[in-house]
Amino acid sequence: MRYRVAWMKGDGIGPEISDAAIEVLNSIQESLPISFDIKFYDLGDRSKIERGSALPEETVEGIKSSDASIKGPVGESAFESIVAIRQKLDLYANIRPARSYEGVPHAGKIDAIIVRENTEDLYKGIEFEVQGVATSLRIISEKATRRIAKVAATYAIKRRKHVTVVHKANVLRVSDGLFRRVALEELGSGGLTVDEKYVDAMSMALIRNPEQFDIILTPNVYGDILSDEASQIAGGLGFAASANIGDLSSLFEPVHGSAPDIAGKGVANPYSMVMSLSMMLNHIGISRSDNEAMRASAAISSVVEKSIKGGILTPDAGGRLTTKEVGRELAKGVKEFVQTG
Ligand code: NAI
Ligand code: MG
Repeated sequence: MRYRVAWMKGDGIGPEISDAAIEVLNSIQESLPISFDIKFYDLGDRSKIERGSALPEETVEGIKSSDASIKGPVGESAFESIVAIRQKLDLYANIRPARSYEGVPHAGKIDAIIVRENTEDLYKGIEFEVQGVATSLRIISEKATRRIAKVAATYAIKRRKHVTVVHKANVLRVSDGLFRRVALEELGSGGLTVDEKYVDAMSMALIRNPEQFDIILTPNVYGDILSDEASQIAGGLGFAASANIGDLSSLFEPVHGSAPDIAGKGVANPYSMVMSLSMMLNHIGISRSDNEAMRASAAISSVVEKSIKGGILTPDAGGRLTTKEVGRELAKGVKEFVQTG
């Protein structure tokens, strides 16, 4: 099969880690009967300066008309670009796996997935200031809560059949009260075990005993914060990949931002982008029932695991390789993996 892929390289380290992931995708195309027609689109700070918009209409249309899309991180225009796309295309499920790998120092063993509601909460962005008082509206709807709880259940069923619902319903009694009520209702049927944690206690429990968690269901803002924490426990943001999934489109991206402190130095960790690519191929495989896409995704995951263990790492993870060198090794590894079956 041939798939149309929309690729937004983004800002800062975005182009560097994108190029490494494209090298891996090319080696997939060369070794498996699957191919990709990659089209590049503008998104983020550079786009805002050069084109006057952080999210040009052409980019939105490009994502809509592609079979899959993937982006590097953007910078300060995150709200106008990535947050806007999530809402515009109704990419309501933000899937953020946090997994510790052998070979990377990690704060604790973890293999969890944060399932974060991705379209509302404070990130709806309804804010105003009147006479020195700033107000933000927090939107939590029954519809959005129910559909994200359904997604959490789908993942849980395939894994340890356990969901932790995170909220702060003891204080935010109306908004988190609704999230808690609807999520527990939705998860109550279907053979899952469910527990709940206040978000402050959750941030502590994640550090204290990360292994206990499997699927973590949260409203938008808590999920944003907890996923950075979980990825740091697992070994750092440089390994954190994610998916934004809706009923009509999907967009894959690293969890982290544009890392301006290391941009242009050639040392950014490309695993986050390569693993986002693997998640994209897995999504294509499942949604199109395409075994080759599944095989491609599994090949990348295996090579990633082996390479991390084998010390193919950038400086943030204790290694000495550049972004390009890691990309090249992964591309080579994928080809060998596929050829040797
Ligand atoms: P950040 O995630 O860019 O960086 C935090 C720290 O992690 C930095 O020390 C950075 O060097 C390191 N880091 C991140 N990714 C890395 C990688 N692949 N390899 C090695 N080290 C890595 O967060 P920060 O500094 O708060 O934000 C920078 C910009 O990113 C901001 O303008 C923000 O708006 C934007 N942002 C964009 C996101 C997106 O595109 N989805 C998400 C989060 C932030
Ligand atoms: Mg974030």
